[in-house]
Amino acid sequence: MEAGIDELVSRMTLEEKIALTTGQDFWSTASVERLGIPSIWLNDGPHGVRRPRSGGDIGIGDAKKATCFPTAAALASSWDTGLIGEVAKALARECHALDVQILLGPGINIKRTPLCGRNFEYFSEDPVLSGKMAVAFVKALQAEGIGACVKHYACNNQEFERMTISAEVDERTLRELYLSGFERVVQEAGPWAIMASYNRVNGVAATENSRLLTAILKREWGFEGIVVSDWTAVNCKHKSLRAGLDLEMPGKGGEGDEIIAQMVRSGRLDEETLDEAVRRILKIVRKAAKHRREGASFDPEAHHALARRAAGESIVLLKNEGDLLPLDRNTIGSLAVIGRFARDPRYQGAGSSQVNPIRLDNAYDEIARLLGGNNRLVYADGYPDDAGAVDQAQLEAAVKAARAAEAAVIFAGLPPRYESEGFDREHLDLPPAHNRLIEAVCRVQQNCVVVLHNGSAVTMPWVERPRAILEGWLGGQASGGAIADVLFGAVNPSGKLSETFPLRLEDTPAYLNYPGEADQVRYGEGLFVGYKYYEKKKIAPLFPFGFGLSYTTFTYSDLAFNRETFTDREPLKVALKVLNSGRMAGREIVQLYLRDEESRLVRPEKELKAFTKVQLEPGEVKTVEFTLEAKDFAYYDSGTGAWFAETGWFEVLIGSSSADIKLTGKVYLNSTQRQRKRYHKLVPFKYFLEDPAARAVIEQELGDTPLFAVLLSGTLDGTLTALLSNMPVIKLLGYTAGSVTAETLEQVITRINSAG
Ligand code: BGC
Repeated sequence: MEAGIDELVSRMTLEEKIALTTGQDFWSTASVERLGIPSIWLNDGPHGVRRPRSGGDIGIGDAKKATCFPTAAALASSWDTGLIGEVAKALARECHALDVQILLGPGINIKRTPLCGRNFEYFSEDPVLSGKMAVAFVKALQAEGIGACVKHYACNNQEFERMTISAEVDERTLRELYLSGFERVVQEAGPWAIMASYNRVNGVAATENSRLLTAILKREWGFEGIVVSDWTAVNCKHKSLRAGLDLEMPGKGGEGDEIIAQMVRSGRLDEETLDEAVRRILKIVRKAAKHRREGASFDPEAHHALARRAAGESIVLLKNEGDLLPLDRNTIGSLAVIGRFARDPRYQGAGSSQVNPIRLDNAYDEIARLLGGNNRLVYADGYPDDAGAVDQAQLEAAVKAARAAEAAVIFAGLPPRYESEGFDREHLDLPPAHNRLIEAVCRVQQNCVVVLHNGSAVTMPWVERPRAILEGWLGGQASGGAIADVLFGAVNPSGKLSETFPLRLEDTPAYLNYPGEADQVRYGEGLFVGYKYYEKKKIAPLFPFGFGLSYTTFTYSDLAFNRETFTDREPLKVALKVLNSGRMAGREIVQLYLRDEESRLVRPEKELKAFTKVQLEPGEVKTVEFTLEAKDFAYYDSGTGAWFAETGWFEVLIGSSSADIKLTGKVYLNSTQRQRKRYHKLVPFKYFLEDPAARAVIEQELGDTPLFAVLLSGTLDGTLTALLSNMPVIKLLGYTAGSVTAETLEQVITRINSAG
């Protein structure tokens, strides 16, 4: 394969090579017919195939029909890697049928702020949940011969000024939080493509960022696929090529190609840089061509059924006072269905991911179907169809309908104008007409259920009023049916929040640093995003990360480890038992968090490291097992540029949510990793003293000098020792009356570093 590729590259003209590194239109790569190099299609993504009718068509709104599966925000709330794999497999079948070779997804950016307009397209605030869902998605998609293009690399965490803003983020936060999911997916699933984002990262455009694209992605992580630009994200083609970008999208009708050709001819751009991009593109084009399935088709009914099951698994039951849910379809006399979203569902977000759905269920019809007709139902719109103000007549009609019924289900959430690709939300509130409707209906009806449709966290000033609340997300074309299934107990809800729901915007981690100014947004909260922030600051959220109820109950017991003291060389195995202690079959998401008891660096209170979803019949017990590797215990040490698992006690916390820890145990990690601290003249002297190896060298080399002798002996008054030993070591030379030179100190430091 490699040999074939090299030969092919050598037969291509300079012009053909340049043309191959830019799309031929909006959606496909250039072909070179004389050499048999075909064109391949790349289309959005992520939760459905948006295949425009031609390469010159943008195709938003009128793309070819395809199944609209639940959005990423919903799917992540299923915490079900098997399920997301099934969805990805179905997406691959649709890609084959629509002749698409690379699906532009999944989107795995971290939800730094709930205000990001595109959060519905992203998985989570947590890198482990995001990363593991992404791995399952990419593996399943690619096993069917369709490439994934994981996006948007990196730090595209807001839509505000997304094409120009610079995310200012420190190295440790970058590694542990914003790059972590990308690293995992590259290493565990080998995506065919990664999409470089629009924004800048620490001042350098992601599409021109050689550190991100070449040093980290390609060299350090070993990425073998192609780096594709987000659409129009390339500002300067030769800078992008040099930085490691392979394919510029979309095409520009050849504009700029001649400049690149001249640069190569005059030696200003190394032809090898171009050849490297061409080689990578050809490898992927070949792979895609090999897997093409001419005349493929799929079963839209089966995919609709999968979309319904996936939406059902993603719904989160947030409240269920007195077990109001599930409603009994045999005994309920009358039910008020309130809110326009019940008939005109809000099921996907706006922008490039917008699928033209094959079918569209609505909750009202699906509830009627489950009840065998609509004669027990009353319906009221409740609010206007735009994001506008309260409509008094509609409000009153809804109150009247609800008052007369046995129970009311109110559909509310965010209208399209509130959240979209391309701009951010202005606040976390529902439209006033929705909030007023919920308040008013709950005042006249005791048995209220609120069903929410939104792509990210919202505030709920009325949270005490309804007896039940379901978070239905933007659940795809079959979400109406899924809601009906959960309301009447055909499906026992098992989703859990993939993001924290805060009480108010002012409590959110990025509040003081968002949206940034003067073209920069400072990630001042560092690692403390999502639950890590609320926990450290002791701020109670509205609903915590990982939270979700069920119609049954689960009991956890028997936490055990294969060893209590272990090294970073062997995996640690964790086991526990979960019992379904209720009366209905159900599925429980078991979450494993780690807490570092003592660390050299500041760490979150706890961090999610593993999770699983277990299906249990009433009375059934299952053993759940997790395997943890050294990296799960490690932090990224920017001082040494490496992951480091420190020796010490760790607490293993098993939770039903981040705030409901059921079992805890302790393990001791005996790290065999040497922390290769690099000393230099600006390192405070106390660190030399604390490190036995460094101290020994100082003793040998400088122990005769009075100042060092007294500091080493510890005989000096405590305050004075603290004062001096907190100084950078070079500054101490000023107190040695010239007896230790800077040159001597450099030699001592070199000896310490080489001994380490
Ligand atoms: C979006 C990408 C998308 C691309 C192609 C861009 O505006 O950011 O996510 O894949 O358009 O539609």
